[in-house]
Amino acid sequence: MQGHAFWFTGLSGAGKTTLANALADRLRQEGRAALVIDGDHLRRQLCCDLGFSPKDRRENLRRAAAVAQLAVEQGFLAIVALISPYREDRAMARRMIGASRMSEIYLSASVDCCASRDPKGLYARASQGLIQNFTGISAPYEPPEAADLVLDTGSFSLEQTVERLLFYAHCRIQDSECGRGSCLG
Ligand code: ADX
Repeated sequence: MQGHAFWFTGLSGAGKTTLANALADRLRQEGRAALVIDGDHLRRQLCCDLGFSPKDRRENLRRAAAVAQLAVEQGFLAIVALISPYREDRAMARRMIGASRMSEIYLSASVDCCASRDPKGLYARASQGLIQNFTGISAPYEPPEAADLVLDTGSFSLEQTVERLLFYAHCRIQDSECGRGSCLG
């Protein structure tokens, strides 16, 4: 079986971790091998030496992409959930993993939407200046110009979004198994 990386990018609170885990659960129920590579988790372990400067975020992404590359090479479906705010860095991930083996999936919930949810209270603290370089408040987020899939997690339910994502994932898995271009056009 061919591997593939589904790379979720978007603001903190956009739903990356929730969707990554939901997608992985559904794929595993189908008997597929899925590995979730989540920013919050990496930062507690493999990347605990890194902060949120552009340089550290790039290194964080490089390590995540290296893990995803290993997984994809061994036939896993890698699901990466990382803010990954810089276009150039996401392009680096695509080069490392292989252009046809990675899908860039943009969770497009706005800053206002994510700040109104604020599940970890981080937007409130960042707005008070208590967290530096916070993406969307005091650090930039560069939206993808040509994402493979855009999911507006601010407007659709989790169930609807997971179904769309699963449909997309099936198409990409089918493509990679048949070695042809995307069935989504
Ligand atoms: S990334 O920018 O380097 O890709 P990553 O996805 O690993 O970020 O980590 C983001 C998580 O770190 C957020 O969900 C949030 O919980 C936490 N966090 C802490 N400080 C910041 C910050 N300054 N900017 C963004 N996220 C932060």
